Amino acid sequence: MLSVSNLSVQFGKRVLFDEVSTTFAQGNCYGIIGANGSGKSTFLKILSGKIEPTSGQVHLESGKRMSVLEQNHNLYDDHSVLETVLMGNKTLYNLKTQIDALYADYSDENVEKIGELQVQFEEMNGWNAESDAAAMLSNLGIKEEHHYTLMKDMDGKQKVRVLLAQALFGNPDVLIMDEPTNDLDYETISWLENFLANYDNCVIVVSHDRHFLDAVCTHISDIDYGKINHYSGNYTFWYESSQLAARQRAQQNKKAEEKKKELEEFIRRFSANVAKSKQATSRKKMIEKLNISEIRPSSRRYPAIIFEREREAGDQILNVSGLSASIDGELLFQNIDINLNKGDKVVVYSRDSRATTAFYQIITGNENADTGTFAWGITTTQSYLPLDNSEFFDNKLTLVDWLRQWATTEEEREEVYIRGFLGKMIFSGEEALKTSNVLSGGEKVRCMLSRMMMMRANILLLDEPTNHLDLESITAFNNSLKNFKGNVLFTTHDHEFAQTVANRVIELTPNGIIDRYMTFDEYMDDKKIKELRDKMYAITA
Ligand SMILES: Nc1ncnc2c1ncn2[C@@H]1O[C@H](COP(=O)(O)OP(=O)(O)OP(=O)(O)O)[C@@H](O)[C@H]1O
Ligand SMILES: [Mg+2]
Repeated sequence: MLSVSNLSVQFGKRVLFDEVSTTFAQGNCYGIIGANGSGKSTFLKILSGKIEPTSGQVHLESGKRMSVLEQNHNLYDDHSVLETVLMGNKTLYNLKTQIDALYADYSDENVEKIGELQVQFEEMNGWNAESDAAAMLSNLGIKEEHHYTLMKDMDGKQKVRVLLAQALFGNPDVLIMDEPTNDLDYETISWLENFLANYDNCVIVVSHDRHFLDAVCTHISDIDYGKINHYSGNYTFWYESSQLAARQRAQQNKKAEEKKKELEEFIRRFSANVAKSKQATSRKKMIEKLNISEIRPSSRRYPAIIFEREREAGDQILNVSGLSASIDGELLFQNIDINLNKGDKVVVYSRDSRATTAFYQIITGNENADTGTFAWGITTTQSYLPLDNSEFFDNKLTLVDWLRQWATTEEEREEVYIRGFLGKMIFSGEEALKTSNVLSGGEKVRCMLSRMMMMRANILLLDEPTNHLDLESITAFNNSLKNFKGNVLFTTHDHEFAQTVANRVIELTPNGIIDRYMTFDEYMDDKKIKELRDKMYAITA
């Protein structure tokens, strides 16, 4: 279906891919995994022809169509929702544009041409395109009344859904997606998981989301050592078997037959578990052909994330009173009163992610509330990891100069001092001198974390901290927050993170606050709280 041969990619001295040859076959879903900065996004851009490799070729079987989930959410702002979806099938959309233009300039000469084009259009099932697109949109929860709305007037979450419909429109033979779950809400992620699990064509998707990878992948494609290796099975299988491979390698003296037996036993157990699980789709037949030959121990490294505090905060941490916020007249939350105690680690939760983001933007002074006040204790200092970090990277500073922007003393301005923080986040040697605008998504977050570590605040504010990070970084981050002695306010879709860090849950609703000292699971499982939550969101709806 799609193949690459002798592909090499190099940036300066850094070799991302070294003579890679591989094939992606019909019917499979490949989950591309690899450390932050290993070259996943670069690889997808090469597949789709957006950038050229240093050497080597990409070959798509003739007559096959590839589509890519657009990451720039504002690219189609001047088009209507329905048109944006139709544009997902470029050939068809171009045909239609040509036909429309010829009609507009109608002449005898054009009649014949129109006829020809219409035959092609019909062959591509063009007449049904609009109703297909409309059905796709409705499936994704975009109501008919919005199908002719301009993209720029849609809210962020809905835009992502439209772009998803665009990518899926017309059943592409190869579908390419780079971290699709980052910008999606929980319900749309579930919908997408279901859709992809039953999709017959070739899917190539980059993700750091374990749950998502397990739900959709028939193969894991690991990028490591400048190569790409495919392994049958989902993420859990890859992970468990690579751990097993590493263990076996450590036990040099173990006999070959014993190792083989252990492997077979492992596969047997694993396959049985998968067959019993609820997602028994056609994809899962793949499991019969599991192989774990040649799994190498990974070269991934754990960053050292350690948050220290310049000083301990006093007893006054944060007081919020009567806070409310809205977007374009739509209420996000109101009547929010919070008294934060020393050491509290709080999951700030809302069904509407715009509400939590607005909350952080307000208490960090970046945006104004509609009503209400907030006051930080005078001994507190805050450092903030915003959801959108793009404005920090809108420059060409080297990473050393980039981080120096937040140095406050002579000592902190020294290159060795700054390199200490960059090194903890695995930017060492020449890596620390690359410019901030070429960074991968995860590398940007690692820079933001270096910045936070250098600020040594006693309050950490984190809006979706695990977005873009690889699993090694997420684990290191999670542990550091468990050990942190100051306060943390955070919002995350990563269940493990929420459950292991927080001792308190605060939910922001259009009708006030729910505030409980308990773990995230206790909160979510509590029947009374669930009833209360439903009521709180329903009242203003
Ligand atoms: N134009 C460039 N010049 C120099 N280095 C570059 C350039 N473009 C990308 N890089 C580097 O290439 C590496 C791979 O980037 P890429 O975005 O493909 O990573 P990724 O695997 O998608 O990472 P993430 O998981 O963080 O999204 C990164 O280290 C990045 O800084
Ligand atoms: Mg990437």
